[in-house]
Amino acid sequence: MTTAPEILGTLHNIRTVAVAELDGVEDDAALEAWRIAYLGRREGRLTLIMRRMAELEAEERRSVGVQANDVKALLESQLAEKTEALKSAKLAQAAQEGRLDVTLPGRRPALGRLHPITQTMREITRAFISMGFQVVEGPEVELDHYNFGMLNIPRGHPARDMFDTLWLDHTNAEGEREMLLRTHTSPMQARIMEATQPPVRVVVPGRVYRFEATDATHEWHFTQVEGLAVDRGITFANLKGTLYEFARLVFGSERRVRFRCDFFPFVEPGVDVAIDCFSCDGAGAPDCRICRGSGWIEIMGAGMVHPRVLEMSGIDHTEYTGFAFGMGVERIAMLKYGIDDIRYFYGNDARFLRQF
Ligand code: DAH
Repeated sequence: MTTAPEILGTLHNIRTVAVAELDGVEDDAALEAWRIAYLGRREGRLTLIMRRMAELEAEERRSVGVQANDVKALLESQLAEKTEALKSAKLAQAAQEGRLDVTLPGRRPALGRLHPITQTMREITRAFISMGFQVVEGPEVELDHYNFGMLNIPRGHPARDMFDTLWLDHTNAEGEREMLLRTHTSPMQARIMEATQPPVRVVVPGRVYRFEATDATHEWHFTQVEGLAVDRGITFANLKGTLYEFARLVFGSERRVRFRCDFFPFVEPGVDVAIDCFSCDGAGAPDCRICRGSGWIEIMGAGMVHPRVLEMSGIDHTEYTGFAFGMGVERIAMLKYGIDDIRYFYGNDARFLRQF
């Protein structure tokens, strides 16, 4: 038969042991085990001993019950306290682990950069801007009229074969294809002259398209910079002077420039322009990778604007003359940076692009 002193003794013992054990609890799992051991509804030591109070006389049960409830309240409040303590210890630890050392040097963010063709294009236009040229841009989807007709290349003209053209699926009333992806930036010459009277000094950077298989030196789309100057008394000497200055600014002050006769329907006379090789200094070293032994590098076409082209755009060719030039930006970038395959530019390989 259970007696009151027995129960009181056990209560006292539970209280002492539980409080001492709780002191050593250091994590949630241990705390939960402690709770089940003492306060668990089915097997908790306090629960069991309280169940045994039923065996006492009513009188004793009341006074023992008061004591039991005190112990229970004490353990519960200690449990709540410990729960709080563990929680704030966890917070403190997280704050400690994630703390910022504001004295550490910052991490440099990875910056993007301009594409090498954009950089080269800007370098080219900057050179002409420094000589008083303005920069304008034009449409990439162009009319046959401007891409060819206004440049003295009518339908059926053999010079159209120089430009393998990507046509748009669109025909005019006569059933002729009349829209295309511009094959060069030259159509802007006609557009500009039509829209303004001289003096004109412009450069036109832009993307052009050719219906062509790609290889190390050909892309089906690439970039050109066109130039046009129209005024009274403009001569071939002005063209030469302008392109000399350009060559020096972009390829170095020692450069020499060579002009040789060439044919483009929209200029007369027409020339191809070459600079002496900046890699072997014009020596034409047989193993030079840049000029391949010739000592010269062709960099653009140019010429005096054909009188017919001036006339068609509404400019009096008896009063005005002009010069024009056009160059491929990829070619110039390849020369400058010693790149031997044009396809790298549009391959989007970050290892290539990061070099610039
Ligand atoms: N448009 C020509 C081409 O793409 C390049 C060119 C040659 C432009 C002579 C000119 C020029 O302005 O005068 O091949």
